Amino acid sequence: MNLLDIVQRSRKPSPWSEGDKIPWNDPEFSRRMLAEHLDQAHDAASRRFEIIDRHVDWIHRAVLASKPTRVLDLGCGPGLYTSRLAALGHECVGIDFSPASIAYADEEARRNKLRCTYLHQDIRTADYGTGYGLVMSIFGEFNVFRPDDAKGILKKAHQALRENGFLLMEPHPFEVVRQLGEQSPCWYSGEGGLFSARPHLCLQESFWDAEGLVAIERYFIVDAATGEATRHSASMQAYTDDGYRELLAECGFGDVTFYETMGDLVSKAQSNLFAIVSKKH
Ligand SMILES: C[S@@+](CC[C@H](N)C(=O)[O-])C[C@H]1O[C@@H](n2cnc3c(N)ncnc32)[C@H](O)[C@@H]1O
Repeated sequence: MNLLDIVQRSRKPSPWSEGDKIPWNDPEFSRRMLAEHLDQAHDAASRRFEIIDRHVDWIHRAVLASKPTRVLDLGCGPGLYTSRLAALGHECVGIDFSPASIAYADEEARRNKLRCTYLHQDIRTADYGTGYGLVMSIFGEFNVFRPDDAKGILKKAHQALRENGFLLMEPHPFEVVRQLGEQSPCWYSGEGGLFSARPHLCLQESFWDAEGLVAIERYFIVDAATGEATRHSASMQAYTDDGYRELLAECGFGDVTFYETMGDLVSKAQSNLFAIVSKKH
């Protein structure tokens, strides 16, 4: 791809037509992303540890009533939630398709002798196993899945849970997704960064598909030395509160409760998300 391809790009891509998501599963990208997950200066890829500690405390006490159980974390990243839950006595399985994150999580579990198993797999196709007391999906990734994939993931989560087991989701509210889609175009330059280790420009634009209720984000990464461009794109489905309720009911979940945050901590990194706890009937 070159600069002319950027100039002649489609003015408004349809949802998911230019790719499913940013390249979490690319080995080089995942190494750079791992550094962002672990960076304690921001809450961009994962929250800072002090916030995660408090979330885990809330999950352990408020959701699981402090009773040890089996936990499945879908899109577990570097295992920042699972490792803490395992230290509290839970037996955890984490699934993620980022190779660097799974390698880090695995290494930490071995080093600290934690009862954690990590699977380097795609949660759309992975076999989740059964017998869990909690299945969770943390930090907004749920909205990035196409609606059919999202439904498939929830149905598999339902099968994986014991009777009366809990599903904990942390998705984006409708308005947050809409606003993401309505952001103005922006750009930055860097000597190296998340999308490339080389000097580059990142040109970003967003779209709101009012018909499908989907925000689309598109990035062109232009290599400063060669002028070659790479395109990345991610789409996010917006759901109303009733939309989440209907989806959960369709996938076999009841007793749905919405929480503004996981626990009482209100920080900037939480304001774009909320938590939903529901139960397998
Ligand atoms: C925003 S990060 C959150 C990580 C972790 N839940 C946390 O809060 O620290 C989203 C994670 O979802 C993973 N992910 C996205 N799509 C996936 C898929 N289809 N299969 C497995 N993992 C996926 C990414 O690799 C990434 O680690």
